[in-house]
Amino acid sequence: MPEASFQILIDNTGERFGCAAGLDVLRGMECLGRRGIPVGCRGGGCGVCKVRVLDGDYRTAKMSRACVSEQEQAQGYALACRLYADGDLRLQVVGKMARALGAPRPGFDFAGALAAASGRAEPERR
Ligand code: FES
Repeated sequence: MPEASFQILIDNTGERFGCAAGLDVLRGMECLGRRGIPVGCRGGGCGVCKVRVLDGDYRTAKMSRACVSEQEQAQGYALACRLYADGDLRLQVVGKMARALGAPRPGFDFAGALAAASGRAEPERR
């Protein structure tokens, strides 16, 4: 029997992708080559992939309390790399890159903004 797959809707951008049950939401997105949720450490420690689940059933694995407090977790905040769908989900990206997703401007330097948010210097261009 094929493994269940759930639809993930990113509220900020209207982007959708399917995510297999048992796969964390961030990895499910990456497996499809999608980029709606910013990717950082993939280990629950940096907070770059922070989202708020607006609708749907889910579970989470252990997350850094520096990134998601107990109160936030109770309000639906989670790290996408530690988030497992138990049904279709509607989420909002709220991590360090959320503003970049909300209202892209013409000529917006997404790579530079991502590098700045992750604390890395942008590669020098020649
Ligand atoms: S990618 Fe770093 S916490 Fe999810």
